[in-house]
Amino acid sequence: MFLFGFLTLWSVVHTEVTQIRLADSGEEWNLNVLPNPNSTGHLVFDTISSLLQHWPNTRYHSGHNIVPGIIPTGTLFYHGRGDPHTPTTSEWVATDPEFARLFCDSTDVPCFMHTLVATRPLRVLYFDGSSATKQPDGPIDTQDILTWGAVLPERQTVEWDYKRMHRLCDFGHMLGIDAYVRMQLNFEIMICNFTDGVEITTLSRLQDEPRFPDYAYSFAHSSEWHDAYPGETRIQLDLTHLISLYDVALAPSLISHRVGRDRRAHRVFGIDKRDTEAVIARVRAMSWSPSQSGIDWRTLFQAIRDRYATRLEVLQSTLNATDEDDAARRAFGSLLTTLMPYRLHSAVPPPVGSGNAWAAPVFRLCAETHTSFIGSRESTLTASEKLLLNAARETSREICRTLVGMWAAGALELRSSAKIPGSLVAKWKSEVGRLMDWLGWSVWVKCRPACASEESCHLPGAPFSMEKWNVTEPLCVRLFLPYSGWPDIP
Ligand SMILES: *[C@@H]1O[C@H](CO)[C@@H](O)[C@H](O)[C@H]1NC(C)=O
Ligand SMILES: *[C@@H]1O[C@H](CO)[C@@H](O)[C@H](O)[C@H]1NC(C)=O
Ligand SMILES: *[C@@H]1O[C@H](CO)[C@@H](O)[C@H](O)[C@H]1NC(C)=O
Ligand SMILES: *[C@@H]1O[C@H](CO)[C@@H](O)[C@H](O)[C@H]1NC(C)=O
Repeated sequence: MFLFGFLTLWSVVHTEVTQIRLADSGEEWNLNVLPNPNSTGHLVFDTISSLLQHWPNTRYHSGHNIVPGIIPTGTLFYHGRGDPHTPTTSEWVATDPEFARLFCDSTDVPCFMHTLVATRPLRVLYFDGSSATKQPDGPIDTQDILTWGAVLPERQTVEWDYKRMHRLCDFGHMLGIDAYVRMQLNFEIMICNFTDGVEITTLSRLQDEPRFPDYAYSFAHSSEWHDAYPGETRIQLDLTHLISLYDVALAPSLISHRVGRDRRAHRVFGIDKRDTEAVIARVRAMSWSPSQSGIDWRTLFQAIRDRYATRLEVLQSTLNATDEDDAARRAFGSLLTTLMPYRLHSAVPPPVGSGNAWAAPVFRLCAETHTSFIGSRESTLTASEKLLLNAARETSREICRTLVGMWAAGALELRSSAKIPGSLVAKWKSEVGRLMDWLGWSVWVKCRPACASEESCHLPGAPFSMEKWNVTEPLCVRLFLPYSGWPDIP
């Protein structure tokens, strides 16, 4: 009894608190206002919570982020080649030997594998997207800014890659940058000085064997180890000093290039000189000690994703049922559970009228729950953290606006009817579809039907599936002989 009384009292108090804060705020909590089509909070949210993951960075192959990080002492790297020479200057290594094995040439050439170890924490910059893909349609753009001071598609080729590494290493020298991290199926690291911060632990001549098909397939499958969150954890990023080209304050010249473009066509080519210089200046001024805010942004973003990713997918398939009345009933039930923490006791539709303003406090509570405390300390955050805060805010806001709007429409119907009418289904379906498109989360790209047990679901990408690399259709690929599912590998 006491507990029940306490809860009732608490809900009254809390409702009042919510309402007071609502009245305080100049911000609009109108459920009918769509996000500005030029805003990028959801794109920052999705790209940042996808860092170092193969799947989303293959789907959206043109990266937009430059992120500082460290590779801890003791981390192993692999460098494969056709001769026993040990590099002394800058060279490529991979985090997985399956990748390095490809660089022992194919047949007829012996295979020498160097294993290296980091002897101290290495300071790195990571370029997201499929940033090791030497194709002129976007993946290399962000690197170009630091390499040449401009995006130069004609240099986005294999032939320019050594020159690129040398220029990047020269650029990073004064900043103490030891290495750059890129991805093409799997992660590779350009180490600027093979005799500084790394040590060769072994140099082994491996068995003479052809690259195709086993090693090519095993490289491709190794990418799947880093498909999804938390991704390649051997690289530890500092999100509190990252730079995003989706930051509209940093790179306003890119806004007009995105208008009317599919997200996969977003790239950094088109950035103007002023914005290019601002990006370079931000990298030069980058602090290498993490913010003192103490906020774990990666986990915060993942907590928001976890709350909604599966639920939106289930909601979408619920609304696909052929019996509309049944679909509406089940979808409403799912909205009730999703919005449980935000459905205030006081938020009930007025007896007459059709608006949804009565649901605004629910919208606001839902939209602000993850960010209001951090927002109260905004002045102590770094510029990058302010960008992240805004991303979490805009993303939460639109998820909550959509779901609370749907719930409010159902609750209005229940005033005069014993059940949710099937006629709501078409509208709800388009709302959920629009929201999921806007969010663009790659967890919803799946092999349907699911793959057999001797197969894995693989998202093709360069360098192997050149005609499929930008199509974003995952396929089931066999894990061992006879290989199938991947037309480009013989
Ligand atoms: C590489 O590092 C070694 C050891 O710190 C140093 O002696 C050498 O000058 C460096 N090489 C370059 C090209 O910076
Ligand atoms: C979006 O950006 C374009 C290009 O800068 C501009 O013309 C348009 O007015 C903007 N739209 C809104 C709604 O702000
Ligand atoms: C919903 O149904 C349509 C058409 O039948 C289909 O294309 C789509 O994949 C289905 N979506 C879900 C989430 O089941
Ligand atoms: C994929 O890239 C090729 C060129 O590399 C282009 O012609 C094609 O339109 C792209 N397809 C998609 C779906 O973006």
